[in-house]
Amino acid sequence: MKIIKTINQGLTGKIKVPGDKSISHRSIMLGALADGDTYITNFLDSEDCMRTVEAFKALGSDIKVAGSIVEIKGKGVKELKKPSGPLNMGNSGTTARLLSGILSGLPFNATIIGDDSLSNRPMDRIIEPLNQMGATIESKNNRLPMTIHGDQLHPIEYKLPIDSAQVKSAVLLAGLLTSGHTTVIENNETRDHTERMLPLFGGKVNRENKRISIKGNQHLHGAKIKIPGDISSASFWIAGAVITPGSDITISDVGLNPTRIGFINVLKRMNANISMKVTRYEGDEPIGNIHVQYSQLQSTTIEEQEVASFIDEVPLLALVATQINGSVKIEHIEELKYKESNRIQTTVQALNALNVNAKEIENGILIEGQSKLIGNEIQTYGDHRIAMMACVASFISEGDIILDDTDCINISYPNFLDELHRINNNL
Ligand code: S3P
Repeated sequence: MKIIKTINQGLTGKIKVPGDKSISHRSIMLGALADGDTYITNFLDSEDCMRTVEAFKALGSDIKVAGSIVEIKGKGVKELKKPSGPLNMGNSGTTARLLSGILSGLPFNATIIGDDSLSNRPMDRIIEPLNQMGATIESKNNRLPMTIHGDQLHPIEYKLPIDSAQVKSAVLLAGLLTSGHTTVIENNETRDHTERMLPLFGGKVNRENKRISIKGNQHLHGAKIKIPGDISSASFWIAGAVITPGSDITISDVGLNPTRIGFINVLKRMNANISMKVTRYEGDEPIGNIHVQYSQLQSTTIEEQEVASFIDEVPLLALVATQINGSVKIEHIEELKYKESNRIQTTVQALNALNVNAKEIENGILIEGQSKLIGNEIQTYGDHRIAMMACVASFISEGDIILDDTDCINISYPNFLDELHRINNNL
C-alpha cells in the first residue's frame, strides 16, 4: 500500500522522461536478429523491456545492459538456439506477441509463459496469422502458456482484423523469416516503430497507404540507436499539467511519432494550451519538446480512426475529462478490455472511487466533467497505467490517494514516483 499525498499546486519546470517502451523492445529484437554490433542508448531499463532482453539471452544472444546503455553482439538469426526452459514474458504483451512472430520462423520448439495478467490476454490475434504462415502453436484457450513449433514459414497477405501494432509487428517479424514478400494491411494506422527502425538495420520495408510489405531473408546488420523519450510516459505529466491550475511545464527529447501523438491531438481539440515542436530525428523517429499549461477544457468527439494513436493514454484522457466543461464519451475503445487489466472497468472503477460520475457504455466510457476529486483507496489490479493515472489525480484531489500497489509502475516507468516527488517539491 502506498499513500500519494495531495499537494494541489501546479506542475512547473522541465521534465525528461525515460526511453520509449515500444522502441526499446524492438531495438533488442532487431539487434538480436542482426549480424554485428548494435549499440543502444536511452534504453528503457524497465521490467517489461528486461523481459525481452532475458528472452533473447535465453535464445543465445550476447546482450549487455548497463542502465540505459545496451550492447548486442549480433550473430544473425541462424545462431539463435532452442532455450533450455520456458521463456518468461512476465507482464509484457509486446514481448510475448512480437517474439512469437520470430519464434515461429526458427527451427525449434519454445514455450512462452507469463504472469497472471498476461496469461489472461488473448493470443488468437497472433496465433491465427502465424498459423497461416505455417507455424504450429499449441495453447489452451488461445492464452499463455503457449508452445511454438517453429518451421519454414511462407509469406502471406494479412488484413488486420483489429488495430494492433503488436499483431502487425509479429507478422512483419515472421515475414522477415520467409523467402517471399509478406504484406500486412491496416484498417487504421497503428504505431509504426518496427517499420521505421528496420531501415536502420539495413532492412527494407515498403509502405503504401495502409499496406506494409516486407521481403524475407533480408540481411540485417548491427545499428546505433538512440531511443526517444516515451510519449506515453510524458502523457502522465501532460495530463497533470492541463488539469492542475498554475501548471507550466516543458518536456524535452520526447518521441513525437505521428502514430503516437493522438493524446495531444485530442487535448488540443479540447482547447488545451499545448504545443509541440520536432527538433531532430533519430533514424526515422521525430523527437522534440512539448510545452503544456493549465487549460480550461471543453468536450470533443473521439473518432474511431484515431484511437490507436492514444490507446495507452485512455485512462489519462478519462481523468482529464473529469475536469472539462460538459461530458465526454470515449468510444471505440473495446481493445482496452484486453490490456494489462480490463482498462474500461479499472478506469471507471478508479474514477468512481475518486467521486467521479463515470460509467462503462457499450464501446467505451462516459465521463462527467467538472468533478471534484476526493482522495480514496484505488485498486490498480497490477496495471501500471492505472496506478500512474491515480497518482496524477493526486495533483487535484481533495485528500490523499491510497494505492494498493505501486510495484507495477516498474513495468514501464521505474523512476515515476521519484519524479512525482521531485515535481511536487519543486526540486
Ligand atoms: C504496443 C502496441 C499497443 C500498446 C502496447 C505496446 C507495441 O498494443 O497498447 O502498450 O509496442 O506494439 P496493441 O498493438 O495490442 O494495441
